[in-house]
Parts: sequence; C-alpha cells; structure tokens
Amino acid sequence: MTASILVTRRPPGNALDILDAAGEVELWDVDAVMPRSELRRRVAKADALYCMLTDRIDADLLDSAPRLRVVSNMAVGLDNVDLRACTARGVVVGHTPGVLTGATADLAMTLLLAAARRIGEGIDHVRSGAWGDFRLDLLLGQEVHSSVVGVIGMGRIGTALARRAAGFGMSIIYSGPNRKPTVERELGAEYRDLATLLEMADHVVVTAPLTAATHHLVNEQSFVLMKPTATLVNVARGPLVDTDALVAALQNREIAAAALDVTDPEPLPADHPLLRLPNCTVIPHLGSATVKTRNAMAELAARNVALGLAGERMEACANPEVYG
Ligand code: GLV
Ligand code: GLV
Repeated sequence: MTASILVTRRPPGNALDILDAAGEVELWDVDAVMPRSELRRRVAKADALYCMLTDRIDADLLDSAPRLRVVSNMAVGLDNVDLRACTARGVVVGHTPGVLTGATADLAMTLLLAAARRIGEGIDHVRSGAWGDFRLDLLLGQEVHSSVVGVIGMGRIGTALARRAAGFGMSIIYSGPNRKPTVERELGAEYRDLATLLEMADHVVVTAPLTAATHHLVNEQSFVLMKPTATLVNVARGPLVDTDALVAALQNREIAAAALDVTDPEPLPADHPLLRLPNCTVIPHLGSATVKTRNAMAELAARNVALGLAGERMEACANPEVYG
C-alpha cells in the first residue's frame, strides 16, 4: 500500500517531488500554521509526518497517529518534538542539521555586529529625521575586533560562529556540557563555566539547543554577572533567555544591548516591552532564511521521509536507537 505523508506547510525547492516519489502526499496548503485540530485529525491516517518547528509533536498527538512511523522536522531544533515519546512508539525522527549552519552563523554574526555598533538605533535615528550635524558622541558602541565572544553551546552553529569571530580578531570562550578539543585547537577557544563566561565576555551568543536543562539558562543572575558594556545575541530558541529578566536588564543598563532572532513568546506581540527598548534589536526568526538554505532544509527533510519510510537510515536522524 502507498504510504500516506502528511505535510503541514508547503515546502520550498524540490521537496514535494521527493515526497511524491515516496508516497501519497497530503499537503496542508494554507500559508499559516496548521491548526492543532486539523493536525490531529489528519495525522490519524498518516504513515509519515513532514512538520515545521511550529507544530508540537507530543505524546498526545502521537496517540492519535497509530500508523505513524516517521516524523521529519524541517528544522534543526527539536524542542517541538517529544523525542522520547516518538522513540517509545518506534517512530523515527529526522531533522536538518548541517545545511543551515553557515546561514545561521552568518546571521548570529550580523546580530553581534548590529548590537555592538547600535545599528538598530542608527536606523531609527535616520528614519525619525533626527540626523543633524556630525556628532563625536553619537551612538557610540562597543568594539567587536579584539573583544571576547562567549559562545553558549559550541555545537555546529556555535563553532561556525566562532570561526567568523576569529576572522574578526575576537578571542573565543565557550560553555556547554562538553569540551570541544577540535575548536580549542583550531581557534584557540577556551572552555569556561557559564558564570565565568558571562563575567568575561564582551559579547555573549546563545547557540545551544532548547531542552529542560537549558530553559532560562540566561536569567536574572546572568545579567548581574555580565559586564554593563556587554551585548547578548540569541539565535537558538527564545526560552533559553528569561525574557522578563532581559527587559529589566536592558532597561536598567545592566547590559548594553541585545539582538534577538528568537524570542519567548514567538511571535512577539507588537506592544511587547522588548520592542520599546532602543537597545534591543529583534528580527523574526530568520536564522536559516536564505533561498539556498531553506531549499536545502526542505529537501533534506524530504529525503529523511523517503528513507524513513523505506526503513533505511535517515541522513539526519535524531533517535537512531529506533533502528535497534
Ligand atoms: C530553526 O530555528 C531551526 O531549528 O531549524
Ligand atoms: C546547535 O544546535 C548547534 O548545532 O550548534
């Protein structure tokens, strides 16, 4: 029997061709997040689910999906997927590491530069008509070159960001559950516990996955430790940073600036206090948002479906223990 593949959002590139060759595609062809009720109803007949980071794949959903064998998340992050529940039901889970590393690291560097050099405030200044005579004290920022970047989570994206930072002449320190000897050798990066990293870094970049252990990893105490001149960049997931604590830290100038690609909540409501702070730059989750990267993610996620349905090893599997 042909496998049924539920797709929760029209994917770019050749992904649909790959999926069509692997089974019968049922596409939610509405340019919005698939409502939970629709997802629950339609997943009941699905053998494979091709989903987005906005779809919550939990035990409750899996219980309404008796045929499901494959979940393919078109994202590297897996905080929206209950991996343990999938593994317990023999459902193999794919994601999209690697193909978005460069684009996301580029965006992290963009935000670091923007926060340090007050680019958001500069744009606001010009747009508001306030630009007058040249001023020696206008929007003075922080150095990037020859400063210290603290990378929280030296995984693929953190490593790619560190390479970019090294190109800017920055010294690199990092924290995380594991030492990374290759990054230490290649870039002279030095491991620090999180508190020491926060005290030492001129620019703190969050690139760790969101798990129960990393929820609010950056919190009220963190901002006390950070330098008043420090900047914070988050390109990982919003809940790694305690939003209320960040608002207070930016208001009280406990740190100089923040630049966020991800927020908690997401989307951020237009009247959110973060958006009224001149020293906070927020962009709408664009880490992987280039034409080439999004196509590559969509196609990798499609190949993961095809391989999963064929009972073969996915290119990028998050719970290979399902294969036994
Ligand atoms: C994007 O945030 C991703 O996890 O791919
Ligand atoms: C985190 O997800 C990383 O790959 O750095």
